[in-house]
Parts: sequence; C-alpha cells; structure tokens
Amino acid sequence: MPPIAALLLPLWSLLPIISASVPMLAGFSVVWSDDFQGDHYAGVDTAKWNQFVGRSDNNAELEFYTPRTNNVHLSGDGQVYIVPTLSNGTWYSARLESVASQACDEGRAMVFQASLWVPDLTGSPPEFAGLWPAFWALGNDLRTDGVLWPECGEWDIFEATNKLGDMNQGTLHFQNADGSHNDSFHGRTVYTTGQYHTWALEVDRRSSDWTKQAVTWYLDDTAFYTVTGAQIGGFQEWTQLADRPYYIILNMAIGGDYPGDPTSQTLSGFDASMRVEYVAIYKSD
Ligand SMILES: *[C@@H]1O[C@H](CO)[C@@H](O)[C@H](O)[C@H]1NC(C)=O
Ligand SMILES: *[C@@H]1O[C@H](CO)[C@@H](O)[C@H](O)[C@H]1NC(C)=O
Repeated sequence: MPPIAALLLPLWSLLPIISASVPMLAGFSVVWSDDFQGDHYAGVDTAKWNQFVGRSDNNAELEFYTPRTNNVHLSGDGQVYIVPTLSNGTWYSARLESVASQACDEGRAMVFQASLWVPDLTGSPPEFAGLWPAFWALGNDLRTDGVLWPECGEWDIFEATNKLGDMNQGTLHFQNADGSHNDSFHGRTVYTTGQYHTWALEVDRRSSDWTKQAVTWYLDDTAFYTVTGAQIGGFQEWTQLADRPYYIILNMAIGGDYPGDPTSQTLSGFDASMRVEYVAIYKSD
C-alpha cells in the first residue's frame, strides 16, 4: 500500500491554486486577481494591465505616464511598485488599468479589493507634497461605448495626498438626471499611514429592491462608509454606479488641482512609491 501522502497528492493537485497573498473572502469567489509574482524589476503582466502612456489631461496634473520599469515594476516578492521620478524637470509616473472589467450581477455582491502601502503622510509632510497615489475604478462604458465621464461612473476606493494626511476619502462620481456631475457622496476614515492596509469597495445587489442595495467602503475588513440606492435617489443614477462593468486603476498622479503641485522638497523615487501586494475582484457565491 502506498503511504498516505502519496494517496493525497493527486487530490491536492486538483484544488484551485490561489496565491497566498490573495485572501479568500467567506461566501465569495475570486473572479479576477493579480498578486504581482515575478522577478525583481520585471514589468507587469500586460495580459492583465493596460499601461497608460502620456499625460492624462485631467485636474491640471503634471505627470507623464510611462510603462518604463523605473516607474512601474515588480518587487520580486509579490508586489508592484509605482514609482514617481523627477527627471530634467518633468515628473514621470505610471498608471495601470485592468484589461478586464466586472459587473455586480443582480442578486449578488461584488468586491474590488487591494492591499497596498503609501508613505507615512501623518502631519502632511512636505516631502510628499503633490503626490496622489490611488486605487479606483471607472465604468467600462467609458472605453467601450463612448459614454463620457461622469456618466460612466467612478468609484474612488483609496486615494492619498499629503493634504489628506492620515485620512482616506471614498468618493462616488456619477451624472445627475440633468446631466450635471455629482460628487456629493464621500466618506472619510483615519488610518495608520506608512503601513500595508486592505482597502475594498463592495457593491451589494442582494436585495431585489434597488433602494436597499448599497455600495460600502472597507478598511482592513471594517466598513467605514455606505451609500444606498435610496440615498442616490434615482434608479438611472444607481444603475450607473451599481449595475455596470467597472475596471480597476492603480496610479500615481502628480500635481494639479487636487493634491497641489510638488515643491523642491518633494521626494522622487522609491521612498515616494505606492506598493501593492495584490488586487482582486470577488463575487458572492
Ligand atoms: C532637458 O530639458 C531641456 C528643456 O526642455 C532640453 O532642452 C534638454 O535637451 C533636456 N535634456 C535631456 C538630457 O533630456
Ligand atoms: C447628488 O445626488 C444627491 C441625491 O440625489 C443630491 O441630494 C445632491 O444634491 C446631488 N449633488 C450634486 C452636486 O448634484
């Protein structure tokens, strides 16, 4: 008789292999993820990520996005680093956009989640002035159906600037029935910056009554902000936010209206990077 381990091995090998760094969520399955495994200084998996090249033309930002590995590369220990660099008077950075998009199905819930690190911004240190790392999502209609922003919808899951300091602000952007931009829904939480944290946004459509459906932001598995369909008020507006495919963006913008411009004290390079251990999309079973 073969030893028991030999009997178990074929069975074990049939189990799905999920990287240790992408955690399971009870009652959910991973439908898309990246745990950024690969050699130190390798580029990201281009089957999973589009890499924005050029200026974004938004918010009077200063950065020039590149796919170059000095601005975005794997750590070698299962992270991706997005590194702002100042070269000859120009700020370079990187913006990753998931090729895939996912929608929350009727009667289900869906979670976009990442574990990430940004520099210690407590007390708004001048060496991080102008940096704006973020984990967010845009409605896929923006890139497939020519639907313009903000009608495509936007979820800001995590963003950091030295003006926000040790606070994250979760925000929704959508279009009101009269065509104007709605950015009235935002909720803040304090966190310990300079450490890894799990940030997530859940869309919950398990209620058949859309006014009772909700979008909820989480810091380390604890909810800190919820917006319900009833609060949004209009079915069309709720549909933009909760019943459309969204894609993930990981980027570091620099300067402009929101963070303010960098100064001569702003750090360039690794110490100013955003580091992401994994990003995953889950759907309820
Ligand atoms: C630096 O920028 C200046 C002004 O744009 C340009 O003339 C010069 O060629 C640049 N030098 C390098 C090494 O890129
Ligand atoms: C956003 O939508 C809410 C709910 O309909 C509304 O009360 C609020 O005035 C809107 N804000 C803007 C800026 O349009």
